[in-house]
Amino acid sequence: TVNFGVIGGGSIFSPELVDLIAKDIGAFGRVNIRFMDVDQGRQEVVCGLCERIAKKSGAPISISYVDSYEQALEGCDYILIQFRIGGEDMRIDDELLGKKYKIPFVETVSVCGIATFLRTYYEAEKLARLIVDKAPQAWVLNFANPAELVAQALAGCGVKKVIGVCNASTRLIGFLKEKFHFGDEDDYFMTWRGLNHLTVVDSFQLRGKEILPEILRDMQDYESDRTPFPAELCRELGFLPNQYFQYYFLERELIGKEQQAAQVRSQLVKEINGELLAEYKTADFVPEALTRRGGYGYSRTVVEAIRSLHTGDRRTHYLVTENRGAIPELPYKGFVEAPCVVGKNMVRPIACGRLPAAAAPLISTMKAFETELIAAAKERSRTRLLRCMMIHPLIGDYRIAQPLLEDILSHNAPYLPEF
Ligand code: G6P
Ligand code: MN
Repeated sequence: TVNFGVIGGGSIFSPELVDLIAKDIGAFGRVNIRFMDVDQGRQEVVCGLCERIAKKSGAPISISYVDSYEQALEGCDYILIQFRIGGEDMRIDDELLGKKYKIPFVETVSVCGIATFLRTYYEAEKLARLIVDKAPQAWVLNFANPAELVAQALAGCGVKKVIGVCNASTRLIGFLKEKFHFGDEDDYFMTWRGLNHLTVVDSFQLRGKEILPEILRDMQDYESDRTPFPAELCRELGFLPNQYFQYYFLERELIGKEQQAAQVRSQLVKEINGELLAEYKTADFVPEALTRRGGYGYSRTVVEAIRSLHTGDRRTHYLVTENRGAIPELPYKGFVEAPCVVGKNMVRPIACGRLPAAAAPLISTMKAFETELIAAAKERSRTRLLRCMMIHPLIGDYRIAQPLLEDILSHNAPYLPEF
């Protein structure tokens, strides 16, 4: 029997997780899933659907709900962290701060990334202590954003077997599989690496052949509908940037659009979630509308990585882990996103050479910002918080950073210790 503990069981993505475990049950045998959430009402709705999905699949999955970390962690093989401290409303609050200061922003970017991380950090500290104490054997997969910072912070609190997870690489591969007609049985590898939400791909090998030039040439085919990235720019850069590069490479255009928009993304997300939860009450499948959420497919990344950890098949996955020299420009012990060989009890990042020149300075700067932010949270240091904001390329102006810092601290006071 494989035991899963899911922290943040009321997440809108839980049903997809159960659906995918059920489809892959052959790799796992019997599965126990313990869901934990502080929002009982929401957990009941979401997990009710999870139970119906499990039952309909016929797979031997048993589901239970608990309301404390201790109960959720007990005897776990895999701990999934997908909570959102402060919920949808604090995400909206973060994004409105970005709008107020006229800087580029979204969930994990600039002010939102800082505020989300601060709210999450102190909960992660508590959770880490319990994991070290009660479930040191478990692998911890963190999707709570900002996923890389939270994973690195957990490691800094003593959690040894922790990785961060993002669905972006899985989405790109899914798209390319269709376009170039290949599957998991085919030999493919991409140099997807950098920081979470700031990755680059400067090589894509399919059956030993380099296809990046073709990918770049046909670029417009797979621009995302939500955050288009100019194909010409990708061709000029010579690599495929993560969509989140738009906040840096198209800064002014982004600010203009956000200032004009009637709604910030998180307000739409709250509406979508409301509709989904209404459907979840009676459905017995994952509703199509879940694809409207950016996190759709995250569970696929998780289940595929866990399958490799569990079976030891040594497949390559694109995960967030300790650098250990894989990206030479970045700190050895800092967390990065990179291709990783995943075997039994092993996640090892693969070195793919130096970062492209047009991305390396930004990525290094962002890592310096992250290092300072984690230290600021750990030390409860207002000075270090201000310093991290001065490093950040989208803030970096004292007349913005200083009042913004005051706003972040006062808006988030219920979630933070004294700074
Ligand atoms: C992407 C990212 C996730 C992020 C999501 C936002 O898929 O990988 O980390 O949470 O987008 O999507 P949302 O629907 O919440 O705006
Ligand atoms: Mn992500």
